[in-house]
Amino acid sequence: MPAIEIRDLVKSFNGLRAVDYLNLSIEGGQIFGLLGPNGAGKTTTIRMLTGLLKPDSGTIKVLSKENWTWKGLMGYIPEEANLYEHLTVYEHLYFVGKLRGVEDLDNRVDYLLEFMNLNDKSDEMVSTLSRGMKQKVAIACATVHEPKVLIGDEPLMGLDPKSQRAVRNLMKSYADKGGVALVSTHILDVAERFCDRVAIISRGSILAKGNLEDLKKKSRSGERATLEDVFLKLTEGERE
Ligand SMILES: Nc1ncnc2c1ncn2[C@@H]1O[C@H](COP(=O)(O)OP(=O)(O)OP(=O)(O)O)[C@@H](O)[C@H]1O
Ligand SMILES: [Mg+2]
Repeated sequence: MPAIEIRDLVKSFNGLRAVDYLNLSIEGGQIFGLLGPNGAGKTTTIRMLTGLLKPDSGTIKVLSKENWTWKGLMGYIPEEANLYEHLTVYEHLYFVGKLRGVEDLDNRVDYLLEFMNLNDKSDEMVSTLSRGMKQKVAIACATVHEPKVLIGDEPLMGLDPKSQRAVRNLMKSYADKGGVALVSTHILDVAERFCDRVAIISRGSILAKGNLEDLKKKSRSGERATLEDVFLKLTEGERE
């Protein structure tokens, strides 16, 4: 049974199909990349997965649950970090952990601060943090309750290489426990370094899915093709 199962998902805005009969199944135990150009429908799909946006039609199941009853099992890192500026970093993590009913919360918060390299910012107000640090707080908040499904909308934007590595390790630890991390990106290098498998989305539907080898075959790119070659070939084919 796939961890995430999306069937015939449709969402339009003012007559424009942002998501157009999108079908996607994602098995647990992996970091999965949703890859596509600007405006392809990544954020719209993710917002429907999280329950922030209602689909026009189609179905979504997460961990075999329907109707967003999976919400407590999911962690969500939005495109723009949306934080309470007037809390300290520690207070913020503690607050979200409390809402999520996390046990042994002091230890969990300490662990995440250490893991995300935020220890020395623990008592700083969120309002004083740099963009990258805010992103790290958002990631820590999304994972405080150890979600089975972690969804990140461009979660690495603004992060330095060390922080990117920390986030990858965090996602990998969920994947290794049978969970799934779904990350959207339009940065191919990120997908290549981070993801076990990817799906390429364009104009609201999935053009191809698989690991890099599968995609090379699908696009009939040569042995030495990069994900960029495959991506451009597939998305160009779409425009012809
Ligand atoms: N709230 C909205 N109202 C109107 N149109 C919208 C809305 N949200 C998204 N769209 C449109 O839907 C399409 C898909 O947008 P979406 O944000 O899902 O793309 P994306 O793949 O996340 O792009 P990016 O890489 O730029 O983040 C775009 O044409 C966008 O303009
Ligand atoms: Mg987006």
